[in-house]
Amino acid sequence: MKNNDRPRLVDPFGRVIDYVRVSLTDKCNFRCFYCLPKGAKEFEPPENYLGPDELVRVIKAFSELGVRRIRLTGGEPLVRKDLTNIAHQIGHMDGIEDLSLSTNASLLAPHAKSLKQAGISRVNVSLDTLDPDRFREITNADLQPVLDGLMATRKAGLEPVKINMVVIKGVNDDEVVDMADFCIEHGFTLRYIETMPIGDTGRDASDQYLSLDIVKQRLEQKFRLIPSVMKGGGPARYFKIDNTDLNIGFITPISQHFCETCNRIRLAVDGTLYLCLGQENSYALKPLLRAGVDDHELKQAIVEALALKPEKHEFKDKPGTVVRFMSSTGG
Ligand SMILES: C[S@@+](CC[C@H](N)C(=O)[O-])C[C@H]1O[C@@H](n2cnc3c(N)ncnc32)[C@H](O)[C@@H]1O
Ligand code: SF4
Repeated sequence: MKNNDRPRLVDPFGRVIDYVRVSLTDKCNFRCFYCLPKGAKEFEPPENYLGPDELVRVIKAFSELGVRRIRLTGGEPLVRKDLTNIAHQIGHMDGIEDLSLSTNASLLAPHAKSLKQAGISRVNVSLDTLDPDRFREITNADLQPVLDGLMATRKAGLEPVKINMVVIKGVNDDEVVDMADFCIEHGFTLRYIETMPIGDTGRDASDQYLSLDIVKQRLEQKFRLIPSVMKGGGPARYFKIDNTDLNIGFITPISQHFCETCNRIRLAVDGTLYLCLGQENSYALKPLLRAGVDDHELKQAIVEALALKPEKHEFKDKPGTVVRFMSSTGG
């Protein structure tokens, strides 16, 4: 089918939804303080997870409705043993043009090549600091396996690699230039992200929120930033650092929201569709799947769910809205 003839999922505000972020697990081997509480033990029981067949069925329904891009995320998707198998099935699915992965990269090195072969084209890696002690303070984990994972992406041909740095006042904001230098050296794309009040952990970190306008000013003291565009760059506003190959993106959900161009929804590990990262509007697909609905009914349910997509998040005016943790929705 030619692209123009494909069906499209359109929300009540006229936005075309062609991108789904799929959380493969709510578990993680890290405990980033703004995401998952240190003592977190309450995770979805395995029987509540969508199994590989259920997942693949839902994603096939999405693709038949016009979704073209899938990002596998979590929690940490690499803690799920069947990741490569799931990736293979989605990566070879008709209609899916782009399959990517968000990861903390700590478990990536041994799997980078097989994930690439399975059909994952590129990865986003969370990395907030280059200092091992600080890294442990933020994540409760070691930095070196992450650096090993990052270097393995290159060998496996998983490109471009985007580094996501959550900028936290008084924690890592003094490293924004160092991180740019690191990405220039290794040829990674860099995106700075504002802390969001998602779950108690995200809200607790709100006093350390820093507007990325300030980060941009700091970068401009050292670099000349030229506005640029990155294909598939999502909500980030991009700049190229003059005389380098580095593209940097600013993801500013708080200081400058980008809801009017939102093109995505999220599927949580238990099969709940979340229509907005910053709202609780949701639709449970698992009961339908387990009640034996046919493919037509499943697609109808997805279209119904889309009608619940809100116009925008309210992180600024109603920071208490989202009670779930980022790791359970799939960031
Ligand atoms: C939830 S993680 C899941 C994938 C993977 N474990 C990782 O860390 O990349 C996805 C992204 O959400 C970001 N994130 C988590 N909590 C956040 C918060 N409160 N505010 C802003 N970004 C957050 C992380 O930094 C990461 O880039
Ligand atoms: S941000 Fe990613 S790596 Fe950090 S705790 Fe959340 S899910 Fe884990």
